Amino acid sequence: MRITVIGAGYVGLVTGVCLADFGHSVDVIDIDASRIERLKAGHSPIFEPGIERLITHNLESGRLAFSMDLESSVHAASVVFIAVSTPSSDTGEADLRYLFTAVDQVAAILSQHPSETPTILVVKSTVPVGTCTSVRTRLLNAGIGEDRCIVVSNPEFLREGNAIGDCLNPERVVIGAESAVAFDRMKSLYHPYVAREIPFVEVSLAAAEHIKYASNAFLAVKISFINELALLCEKTHTDVLEVARGMGLDARIGPGFLMPGPGFGGSCFPKDIRALEAVGQKNGVELKLLGAVDLINKRQKRHVVNQVLTRLSGISAPIVAVLGLAFKANTDDMRDAPALDILPALIANGAMIQAYDLVAADNARPLLGEHVRYCSSAMAAAADADVLLILTEWNEFYDIDLMALKSQMRTPTIVDTRRVIDPKSATRAGFNYYGIGRA
Ligand code: NAD
Ligand code: UGA
Repeated sequence: MRITVIGAGYVGLVTGVCLADFGHSVDVIDIDASRIERLKAGHSPIFEPGIERLITHNLESGRLAFSMDLESSVHAASVVFIAVSTPSSDTGEADLRYLFTAVDQVAAILSQHPSETPTILVVKSTVPVGTCTSVRTRLLNAGIGEDRCIVVSNPEFLREGNAIGDCLNPERVVIGAESAVAFDRMKSLYHPYVAREIPFVEVSLAAAEHIKYASNAFLAVKISFINELALLCEKTHTDVLEVARGMGLDARIGPGFLMPGPGFGGSCFPKDIRALEAVGQKNGVELKLLGAVDLINKRQKRHVVNQVLTRLSGISAPIVAVLGLAFKANTDDMRDAPALDILPALIANGAMIQAYDLVAADNARPLLGEHVRYCSSAMAAAADADVLLILTEWNEFYDIDLMALKSQMRTPTIVDTRRVIDPKSATRAGFNYYGIGRA
């Protein structure tokens, strides 16, 4: 099949590359010229393990192309994916302007190039319930009926840092549509999933849109539950990881997303919770649980700040070494990273920050300003520091050389928000160790 993917960001790029790998002929289109030039040369604009190898392989096979020429691509395509961003607006609602611009562009192209079979327009961006119906209305208003273009909702569940694996091997594929033709076309597009018996969830457009937000919201609830419990465990001298393990073995609860941390971040959980709350408000239903999740997540970041400040008390011109800036490991994405709240709060309280992240420093710099000194290794960040604050669970932090670390620091104190350091080893090495949710 010939496919157009609009948007070469995390989702569009990964989707396009994986569809090319399935044997389709794919154009990934973006309005960002420098992004397209980099991609044409085989370089990924995002850090995502495994992506450059797949880009190169599929560029060489001739199945994958990057371009800014939407018109010729859509003209030739039988399926068009929209994977543009849907950020938070000031009110918390999803800002749909990029999505509707893309829809209008596709509508204009389709009206000039009628085809015999209807084009499938797949909304992959995360959008609030009712959006795909608005897309259908927009197409109708442009004179494009169902005989010319069929709208499908196909939300994406990939995780950054694991995006290729998630896209090639999803746990389920959600397809929202209002016609049998659409379900059939999506199944032939996704033939490797069908062959591997990956479950397809075939539902209405509205249900597909809801499934995406509900899934993200539920995962954020799980994280917030364990983060809140972590605070209680600290007071009751219990290890929250022991509690999480005991809970997670109950199949009704499950072990995933019960890892305490500095609060969740990233490009989606925070914005999607706000967007779902806004949908609730619009429909006269206050989603109280989501309000609580937001408060718990803010409190978690404050808790981390307080833990560091307590340990800096009485030290003049204190230095905090920060290991990890990205919102999670294996990504360079800084969108809504806890570091963006925690570091400014520490700086406002007089701390100097020396930070090290394996890949996110370039993205962090414009967001955190010049108050942070960026270092090229964990040991360099630890030089003369009074607290070592671990914010991201990068693999290399798990087996950091504690004796070497101690010799670098002015005061041997670790605040570990990801539980990457073994507390006994840290204490044996002479550190004052704090791990979130630990006795
Ligand atoms: P992103 O910001 O990384 O990428 C969006 C891209 O779209 C940008 O490169 C931008 O230049 C391009 N773009 C915008 N308007 C365009 C147009 N008219 N024509 C061509 N290109 C255009 O966004 P993202 O993180 O990939 O997210 C995209 C959507 O997928 C969002 O709705 C998001 O909520 C959802 N989502 C994201 C993830 C994730 O892990 N990032 C996972 C699941 C779902
Ligand atoms: C999340 C979802 O997991 C994806 O299914 C979804 O497609 C995506 O959002 C999206 O809609 O964008 P992602 O944000 O990439 O994916 O990363 P996660 O692994 O879900 O982590 C999100 C945040 O929660 C991170 O800050 C992470 O550190 C935190 N987290 C996660 C915890 O604190 N504890 C956990 O147990 C799990």
